[in-house]
Amino acid sequence: MYTPFLPLTLALSVMIASSGVAFADDDTISSTLVEQGYKISPIPRDQLNLTGKSTTAVGLGSYLVNAVGDCSGCHSFPQFLEKGGAGNNPSAGDPFEGIPSTQSVSGQLVANFNVSHYMGGGQCFGPFMARNLTPDQYGPVEGLTQDEFITVIRTGADVHCDKFANDPICALGPPTPLLQVMPWSTYHGMTDAHLRAMYAYLSAIPAATACNTVANGCPGYSGDAATSANYAYPNTSDCPNPAPPQ
Ligand code: HEC
Repeated sequence: MYTPFLPLTLALSVMIASSGVAFADDDTISSTLVEQGYKISPIPRDQLNLTGKSTTAVGLGSYLVNAVGDCSGCHSFPQFLEKGGAGNNPSAGDPFEGIPSTQSVSGQLVANFNVSHYMGGGQCFGPFMARNLTPDQYGPVEGLTQDEFITVIRTGADVHCDKFANDPICALGPPTPLLQVMPWSTYHGMTDAHLRAMYAYLSAIPAATACNTVANGCPGYSGDAATSANYAYPNTSDCPNPAPPQ
């Protein structure tokens, strides 16, 4: 995403800071999917719960979730934090603010991921809110079994809200027979093995909360934000409001 209104001083400091960046050998883009998956996971390998899981599936799942599926683009909010902010790489900042690009052609993405809210959900798309995919009170991946996860992706059925109808997130937005925002019709074409790999990775990530809760609501539609054009969650260092561009 192009951000035309970046303040000049910030743009200059990003350029100066990035001009001296050198990438170590292991920061280059890997040629194997599993290895690349572990390299790009915002959650480092030693913080993933690999117990009882295939390490190959988890690595491949990370590749599909983080490099292909853009799951984090919708399910982590804000996804990136400003330079100096509370994320996993404060010297890097929000990659969308690098003008001209601060990224290497052959190295990994340099970004400050908002790891403490990674996949915690909360982003609104009109009246619909992205779900928390981390192990919360419903369990990992919204409390879906692997088979239910595959059903969700292949059919768009809202299996979570069929199972846990009292989850208040299920009352947000108009009732719809199918997931309305989640790009399940695209992911439908993925192989069973790839869907299982994504499920393995999502089951391995640590629990996280959402910055924007159901009570905070969706701007213009529900909760505290119902009469506002902006999000209503409190502004903190790891939950900046307004969120940086992503
Ligand atoms: C364009 C934004 C977007 C992207 C990209 C996205 N999601 Fe979603 N997802 C949503 C939203 C919003 C919901 C809930 C409401 C809806 O879609 O109507 C949701 C719901 C879900 C659910 C819950 C479904 C249920 O009923 O149990 C799962 C699981 C899920 N997403 C997984 C993923 C995975 C895995 C990826 C990446 C492969 C992904 N999402 C990518 C926006 C997105």
